[in-house]
Amino acid sequence: MKLARAVEWVGERNGYLRLLDQTRLPKEIIYRECRDLEAVRLAIRELAVRGAPAIGVSAAYGLVLWLQTNAPAGIDAAVDRLASSRPTAVNLVWALQRMRRRLAELPAGGDPVTWLLDEARVIEAEDQAMCAAIGQHGAELLRDGQGVLTHCNTGALATAGIGTALGVIFTAAQQGKRLHVFADETRPLLQGARLTAWELQQADLDVTLICDNMAAQVMKEGRVQAVLVGADRIAANGDTANKIGTYSLAVLAKAHSIPFYVAAPSSTFDLSLSNGGGIPIEQREGREITHGFIGQIAPEGVKVYNPAFDVTNAELITAIITELGVIQPVQERTIRKRLGSRL
Ligand code: MRU
Repeated sequence: MKLARAVEWVGERNGYLRLLDQTRLPKEIIYRECRDLEAVRLAIRELAVRGAPAIGVSAAYGLVLWLQTNAPAGIDAAVDRLASSRPTAVNLVWALQRMRRRLAELPAGGDPVTWLLDEARVIEAEDQAMCAAIGQHGAELLRDGQGVLTHCNTGALATAGIGTALGVIFTAAQQGKRLHVFADETRPLLQGARLTAWELQQADLDVTLICDNMAAQVMKEGRVQAVLVGADRIAANGDTANKIGTYSLAVLAKAHSIPFYVAAPSSTFDLSLSNGGGIPIEQREGREITHGFIGQIAPEGVKVYNPAFDVTNAELITAIITELGVIQPVQERTIRKRLGSRL
């Protein structure tokens, strides 16, 4: 199966970060070469690289770029600068904190750049392994011939590996299960149309694109047997922040008695938050809605509300698929038990 590579460190100690520019897909395959922290920050901010795990891996390499020309003593400011690029996906802060902790363990006389480059590579490799394990656990929940509805993009473009929710679909397909995937276009930035439909097509899987507001009808027609989405941050009780529109899908799934699955690595859990109420929701520019990919579609100056994420209550989630296994029912007790030593 041919999958895109979203994030790649090129070279060794003096290397740079190469990102597949996701703002240009599916029309063009163009890479951005990031050679300093600000370039990585901008790429994250502009969604050239996006998806919670891919953001975390990119930020880790962003710190390596910063260390190439700066003394380790100022690391806190660099961490804060990268952490402020997007607020909702906790993988960003998770990766940065891990890098900072690792730097504190630098042996006397050691080279901080090589030391942290190694750690960023470990984070990337672990993400690949987590995706593979999520794929295996999740594929067991799907059966041959089922229709699966997904939202936003959660594939190789959003991670360092095969993806989370899409990784489950890729794994099930490799096991010979013929799935019919419905991809929500995912307004306003169309990650479903531009990225998920593209990725699934590239992998030769059966994908049908729908507008977000068609999900209820597609469910009512009996075409969907499972909803499968990713996550940007999961609170201790299982409340899950993901791309705007996820919550409405969960409500629809419940109304149609369709299982609603979240697939995410342990790095997406934020157990410092007791519930989803404390998850920061990114607010993006109104122009993303008024002036989208097809040009101006709303009157100049109209008021716009543009939250990039929403929170789905744990009660609406049938199960969370992690690299450590499936969490079901979704409750603080079952989450803590499954994550165990990863807390
Ligand atoms: O704004 P985006 O494109 O970064 O949002 C991405 C999502 O909401 C994904 O579903 C989530 O990050 C999980 S990716 C494996």
